[in-house]
Amino acid sequence: MLVEYKNEALVNFSLPENRTAMEQELAKIATLKGRHYPLVIGGKKIDTEARITSVNPSNFEEVIGTTARANTELAESAVQSALSAFAEWQYVSPEERARYLFKAAAIMRRKKFEFSAWLVEESGKNWVEADADTAEAIDFLEYYAHQMLQYAAGMPVVPNAGEQNECFYIPLGVGLIIPPWNFPLAILAGMTAAAIVTGNTVIMKPASTTPIIAAKLMELWEEVSLPPGVVNFLPGSGSAIGDYLVSHPKIRFINFTGSKEVGLRINKLAADVVPGQKWIKRVVAEMGGKDAIIVDSEADIEDAANGIVASAFGFQGQKCSACSRAIIVADVYDEIVAKVAAKTKALKMGPASDPTINMGPVIDKNAYGKILEYIEIGKSEGRIVAGGVKGAENGYFIEPTVVADVDSKARVAQEEIFGPVVALIKAADYNQAIAIANDTEYGLTGAVYSKNRTKLEKARREFHVGNLYLNRKCTGALVGVHPFGGFNMSGTDSKAGGADYLLLFMQAKSVAEKL
Ligand code: NAD
Ligand code: ALA
Repeated sequence: MLVEYKNEALVNFSLPENRTAMEQELAKIATLKGRHYPLVIGGKKIDTEARITSVNPSNFEEVIGTTARANTELAESAVQSALSAFAEWQYVSPEERARYLFKAAAIMRRKKFEFSAWLVEESGKNWVEADADTAEAIDFLEYYAHQMLQYAAGMPVVPNAGEQNECFYIPLGVGLIIPPWNFPLAILAGMTAAAIVTGNTVIMKPASTTPIIAAKLMELWEEVSLPPGVVNFLPGSGSAIGDYLVSHPKIRFINFTGSKEVGLRINKLAADVVPGQKWIKRVVAEMGGKDAIIVDSEADIEDAANGIVASAFGFQGQKCSACSRAIIVADVYDEIVAKVAAKTKALKMGPASDPTINMGPVIDKNAYGKILEYIEIGKSEGRIVAGGVKGAENGYFIEPTVVADVDSKARVAQEEIFGPVVALIKAADYNQAIAIANDTEYGLTGAVYSKNRTKLEKARREFHVGNLYLNRKCTGALVGVHPFGGFNMSGTDSKAGGADYLLLFMQAKSVAEKL
């Protein structure tokens, strides 16, 4: 019998057995660093002279591994392989397709510490964040498998005398999966699992900073003996193969998560119909955020300060859901500023493999440079009350930074920095705080701290974000519990981990037979 879906429990690292398990996996993968991973096209391993090198952001002299780097010829071959696999995979029953995901989830659960260890070393997540990423990946696999079983029943239709009627879901075709690097396991696994469990075949193009964890996911698809060509593993640079694939006439849909700039480019390119194309490409594009936490004068101040610090600096602020603006009502502004500054200064930064740290490095040289530039801008747009400087220079370390007294129109209050920087903005009253929160092109997550029911209800109605949290932090959506996706320039609001997500990868066919 099918076990009911429930979220994967997080590992308690205060227990000695869990600490030991993680240490053992980190030691084990240390012996596997530097390995090379080929492309996988139609089940065949294909190598290239050109390579992508993945380094440890906590110590960029250390190579985590290398992968082959696809060019457009290999991209073409991946499309052809996915097309030919689609011929059979589309007719595999939903139950059988779901079983591949259940099996993958079970194996990932058994290898939980191993996946988390790779996340620590390749993405710079601390142990807790890495474990949450792995747990979310397991959740996506199991949740989408359960959802597919529900959709197998088709769409309910009204009976019509003299006819037998049904409406059932069929897949779309070949999809392109383009994930970001910041949830390199969970988001990649979720985006891919949803597309294949619905009967599509895909090209999985990982982000170039985290291709090794993606190679580990590919190994998992192979371990569950997914038929060749259902998932093709195609590391390569976005600029070299991205446009080619997005514009390809045989690509039926693109499932993208990443920045606004790249998402809009993909959306535009995908809208152009090219010779040989006979459908409107479907684009699912989940993009950036400039997420705000509002602190009302009637809030629990300690709770609110904790929520701001956790949401702003978890995984070094590199979450689309991260709090990058805290909008604080004037009466409690000074108190919140002092508390947030003190709590931020207490955070410990260091290599992600050290279990005692709160904050690791940012992902790469580009991010490091961009965030430091924003900190300089922040110095001219406000008052630095914590951080504002680099950390150890053997990795991409930046101290968690709090910029107070920022105008709501300032650049650090409007542009996505995607790093450990939060702008504190003073609002005259609660109504103004809501107006400031909505004064952004994005609309992904938001939170409000208040004990006043009327104010919470106003936020429910008027705070225009895809994921609103009341009296809690604005990060850490759980699969199935908090369907996740944003409004406006945050994307297409596809609600990953929600009960209607799989519909995005299917089309409904209505059949009537005269009796
Ligand atoms: P990015 O846009 O730079 O890259 C995302 C992916 O697009 C990568 O795999 C990259 O290789 C690929 N890419 C780049 N150029 C391309 C092109 N021309 N054609 C096709 N693919 C191309 O984003 P990132 O730096 O990897 O991720 C951070 C961004 O992602 C932030 O803006 C963050 O807010 C956003 N994000 C959003 C969500 C969400 O659910 N809304 C979740 C996580 C991250
Ligand atoms: N799903 C992630 C969160 O909610 C991005 O923090």
